[in-house]
Amino acid sequence: MLTKEKLLHGLHTSTLCKKLFVFDTIDSTNACAKVLAEIDIDNGTVVIAEYQTEGRGRLGRSWNSEKGKNLLFSVIMKPQIHRSLVGLLPLYAALSVAQGIREMLNIEVECKWPNDILIHSKKCCGILLESSLKVETLKYAIIGIGINVNQERFDAHLAQKATSLKREIQRSVDRVALFQHIVQCLDRNYAYVHEGNFGIIVDQWLQHAPMIGKEITILHEHGSSTGIADGINAQGGLIVRCPDGVKTFYAGEVSIRYEKG
Ligand code: BTN
Repeated sequence: MLTKEKLLHGLHTSTLCKKLFVFDTIDSTNACAKVLAEIDIDNGTVVIAEYQTEGRGRLGRSWNSEKGKNLLFSVIMKPQIHRSLVGLLPLYAALSVAQGIREMLNIEVECKWPNDILIHSKKCCGILLESSLKVETLKYAIIGIGINVNQERFDAHLAQKATSLKREIQRSVDRVALFQHIVQCLDRNYAYVHEGNFGIIVDQWLQHAPMIGKEITILHEHGSSTGIADGINAQGGLIVRCPDGVKTFYAGEVSIRYEKG
């Protein structure tokens, strides 16, 4: 069972996890984090739960996770950055999760724009960013992270698309140690976020993103577009070379299909 004592034991950070709320069951850690952010809780506060009754995913989907097997947590972040940079926060989070998994388990993980982590082309982590803006700057962002750690079975409709760390490495993973590795990476990379210096984050994210340079299909509200993923722009948008010109897509609107190949 995850406890505050275990999660904080030996953890040394500058910004992250100075306040930590641990729940057995909650509706959604993102929903809880949002309430805390509204009452002006500290930057870097984390909410974690063993189980969510109303876990939220991207694009209005739900996020279901077996109790006591996975990591479900949300980080409240309040960097004073321009609103145009908010779309880069999912890349910061995905990079940090990828680095944490690699550092602890020494396995290859793949970042898929905007904010998924894949192993062997199957999703093991999803990230949901929810933000509140002042006029020109970010008021706060909630970075919700769901990692399939030790879950072995997935609903039939997810079986081909989802995986867990345990399924991929054939052994159980210590969730406390993994949480601490990821929090350390979030904390280390936060220095760049705080400065609004996302160049380093994007460069490192690109090193984990084999989809760049590949043919992809983007599903959006007007249908779909196919082209070559070319890079990330200064706002975190995905630049795609399509037959009818270069287009940029933003995370709120689309989902992506591609073959690793
Ligand atoms: C996705 O659709 O891929 C994003 C899933 C994000 C799930 C996490 S679990 C912790 C946090 N709380 C939520 O309700 N959602 C995020």
